[in-house]
Amino acid sequence: MKVYAHRGYSGKYPENTMLAFKEAAKTGCDGIELDVQLTKDGKVVVIHDEAVDRTTDGSGKVKDFTYQELARLNAANLYEGKYGFCGIPLFEDYCKWAAGQDLVTNIELKTGVYYYEELEEKTLELVRKYGLEEKVFYSSFNHLSLLKVKELDPQAVCGALLEHTGIGNAGYYCRRFGLQAYHPGYKGLTEETVRGCRENGIQVNVWTINDMGVLEQLEEWGCDGAITNYPEVCKRWVDRR
Ligand code: G3P
Ligand code: CA
Repeated sequence: MKVYAHRGYSGKYPENTMLAFKEAAKTGCDGIELDVQLTKDGKVVVIHDEAVDRTTDGSGKVKDFTYQELARLNAANLYEGKYGFCGIPLFEDYCKWAAGQDLVTNIELKTGVYYYEELEEKTLELVRKYGLEEKVFYSSFNHLSLLKVKELDPQAVCGALLEHTGIGNAGYYCRRFGLQAYHPGYKGLTEETVRGCRENGIQVNVWTINDMGVLEQLEEWGCDGAITNYPEVCKRWVDRR
């Protein structure tokens, strides 16, 4: 079972920062999950919430800041000085770093609340620029974003993100839309749904797994990946198995 660091090593370090990504890489995990959005001036940035308020010392919506304005905010604000200043990364800076790493990246297109025109095009362009096509897969709660990714690059690997309720016929659903993976929250997932995915040739990557009892169950059901805030703990557990 593959282990993906959710927003980097977010259990210990400021989420979606280069620090969290570099610390995740040190754990030997298989990959990193991150979230992308667009600034007012059309830059692809790595941040989870549509507003900067929870994770930074600023206030307002990502889409209303230029990147220059956004770059002044401290994304380590929740840690009260422990990690000093950590900027909100440009996705391009992440790509530059990831090109030299033996890691895959799960890029979540955050188009569920605001639909960012051209986020898909700009994200794929950067992936191509840094030769990361074989080392990334895409996910989104907005499945139309994934269909757009497939139009732009039919070879791109895409996973349908679902909240914990999920969908019972996930395997058929994903296959029907040409998506390669199902990314449900773990709470509503059943063995039957996992079996349905396997029968349809669909991978199952589950979020957010911070409990080794849940991880054990998912492994028994034959899930392919776990997205976790604690890649170090999960990776150790998987390796011991
Ligand atoms: O990709 C899994 C997970 O990241 C989806 O939820 O809200 O943490 O982006 P969220
Ligand atoms: Ca995410």
